[in-house]
Amino acid sequence: MKVFEPASIGSITMSNHFIRSATAEGLATSQGFCSAALTTFMVRLAKGGIGLIITGHMAVSSEGRASERQLCIWHDDYLPALMDMTRQVHEAGGKIVAQISHAGIFANTSLTGEAAMGPTVRRQSDSTICREMTSIDIRRTVKAFASASYLVKEAGFDGVQIHAAHGYLLSSFLSPHYNSRNDEYGGTAENRSRFLLEVVQAVRASTGNNFPVLVKMNANDFLENGMGIDDMIYTAAAMEAAGVTAAVHL
Ligand SMILES: Cc1cc2nc3c(=O)[nH]c(=O)nc-3n(C[C@H](O)[C@H](O)[C@H](O)COP(=O)(O)O)c2cc1C
Repeated sequence: MKVFEPASIGSITMSNHFIRSATAEGLATSQGFCSAALTTFMVRLAKGGIGLIITGHMAVSSEGRASERQLCIWHDDYLPALMDMTRQVHEAGGKIVAQISHAGIFANTSLTGEAAMGPTVRRQSDSTICREMTSIDIRRTVKAFASASYLVKEAGFDGVQIHAAHGYLLSSFLSPHYNSRNDEYGGTAENRSRFLLEVVQAVRASTGNNFPVLVKMNANDFLENGMGIDDMIYTAAAMEAAGVTAAVHL
C-alpha cells in the first residue's frame, strides 16, 4: 500500500490513505448544533490534506448524549449548519463521514435528565446506574440510528460511520462483560450481534444501496469476561453480509 496514493471506500474516493479517526471535538454549540468554530476546524483538516475526516460521535437521540458540546443529529434543525460544513469541506478538497452514536451506559445523565440504559442493569452500592433496555427501547433506538443516518445523507456527508466501539451502547451489547441478557439479544455471539445488525440493516435501508456505511468496533475490550477476536470475526462477517461498506477496528 502506498499511503500517499488515492484510495477508495465504496463510493468515497480519497486523495490518500490517511483517515482522521473520529475524535469528539467539543466544538458544537451547547444545543448540539455545528458551530462556525467546528466548520473552521474541519476545513483546516481538509486543507491539511487528510484523505478522509470522520467527525466526532454525533448523538442519535437526546438520551444517548455523552457530553456537552457534542454534535446531535435527531432533527432537521441540525441540517443547515451541517450542510454548510460539508460544503466547505468539499470545497477545500476533503471528504467527510459522520459518526453516529448512542452512549448507552456512558450517557451523561446530568445532561440527558434520564437514567442511562444498556443491555443489563448495573448497580453501584444502592443506586442503579444503568437500566436494562426493553425490546421497545431497542426498536426505538434502531429507528433513531436509521433517522440519524438519513439526516447524515441529507446534510451532504460522504458516508456514515456507526459507533460500535469503546463500551458505548452498541458495543456494550457485543460484550459479555456488559451483556448478560437471556433474550435474543444476549448469550451467543449471534444474539449479542443482533442489535448492531438491526442497526446496520436499518441504516442501509434508510440511506439506500450505494451510500458508504462504515462501522467502528473494537475486537477486544480487555475486560473480565469481555469480547474477544473470535466473536468479532463472526460479527464482522455478519455485518459484511448485511451490507456494511467497511469496518474499522480501533
Ligand atoms: C479526545 C479524543 C476524543 C475521541 N473521540 C472519539 C469519538 O468521538 N468517537 C470514536 O469512535 N473514537 C473517539 N476517540 C478514539 C479515537 O478515534 C481512536 O480510536 C483512539 O484514539 C485510538 O487510536 P490511536 O491509538 O491512534 O490513538 C477519541 C479519542 C480521543 C483522544
